Amino acid sequence: MLPVFALLIVLSSCAALKDLGYEDFACDADLMRRSKPVPKNVHSLRFADIDIIAGIGDSITAANGAGADPNDPIAVLIQYRGLAFSMGGDGNLEKHVTLTNILKKFNPDIFGYSTGTGSANVWQTARLNAAVPGAVSGDLIGQANDLVRRMKEHPDIDFITQWKLVHIFIGGNDLCAWCDHQDTEAPEQFRDNIRAAVQILQENLPRTIVVLTGILDFSLLRRVDVNSRFCKALHTDECPCEMSSKVSDEALRNASLSYMQREQELEDSGEFDTVDDFTLVVQPFFEDISDAPRLPNGDPDLSLFAPDCFHFSQYGHAMVAKNLWNNMNEPVGSKSRVADLTNTEFPLKCPDAVGLPLHSNNQEQQRLHSFQDKLT
Ligand SMILES: *[C@@H]1O[C@H](CO)[C@@H](O)[C@H](O)[C@H]1NC(C)=O
Repeated sequence: MLPVFALLIVLSSCAALKDLGYEDFACDADLMRRSKPVPKNVHSLRFADIDIIAGIGDSITAANGAGADPNDPIAVLIQYRGLAFSMGGDGNLEKHVTLTNILKKFNPDIFGYSTGTGSANVWQTARLNAAVPGAVSGDLIGQANDLVRRMKEHPDIDFITQWKLVHIFIGGNDLCAWCDHQDTEAPEQFRDNIRAAVQILQENLPRTIVVLTGILDFSLLRRVDVNSRFCKALHTDECPCEMSSKVSDEALRNASLSYMQREQELEDSGEFDTVDDFTLVVQPFFEDISDAPRLPNGDPDLSLFAPDCFHFSQYGHAMVAKNLWNNMNEPVGSKSRVADLTNTEFPLKCPDAVGLPLHSNNQEQQRLHSFQDKLT
């Protein structure tokens, strides 16, 4: 009995691409329900109040290669948007962890997530995922405008009253070009590009929370592709600064860290906390990992990556999604900065209390607002 059973597991795991789901996710019923009435203030917002999910970014948010067979590097050209850690809505949480699939547990009617494959302009699959492969931070402005237009035009979106979560992840292509273009790709310019895009969202979208996933340390890619001549050859084109012998590991790590710090400034400055129904929150879970995620034998765990050792695989997206969700549930100021990309067992967090943990310039004002929301 046992050997046959074991064989079946081996066979099925060969046929299906590795993935990570999460069974039996449930939080206290009171923390999973919607507010009544719909809150006016972002500081009273519950996860279940989020009706619309949207995203801007690059090939990571387009999920290039996520569904590619390990022996099929050409499939890295395919945009598996339905698998993206943020915007992907393929399957369900039990099969594949994404931010969307977790949020569906709070609000099954959430709208805007991607399914299947295709580019940003294919509405039926992309929906409100406006990310474009190859995008740099400067392209976010156009994507933000695109998103605003999509939301305004869609008849099923109640633009004024529905709460929107816009996820941003950007910077890979900037860091890959940074060493050759230190003026246009300076960390300050990177910050200012993101700022300009978020300003467009703030000026145009009522009731919106922007979730900015901080960039990762690109020097770790050098430890991911170390044993793969094939991946290194690809990266020469894909990421010149990773491959450049003139750029030390430390210099690449420093550049990545400067990018992260500039992203954090956008939150800490409070510049996006000027109205009640808009805020920006950074999720810094990638910040302190500088080594490749490793298997027990010490080799880099390539199952987290697409066949190009650069983009995330389906399984990689699920692992990133778990870390993003848990980061989103940690208080601002004490968020984890070390993603766990090797342990599949750690639990998904539940919200500690009503309301998402957000940055606030003024705690007293925050309490007052949530009190007022309860009264209205
Ligand atoms: C990296 O940053 C550290 C700390 O700021 C600094 O001491 C070091 O010189 C930098 N290294 C490079 C190569 O830029």
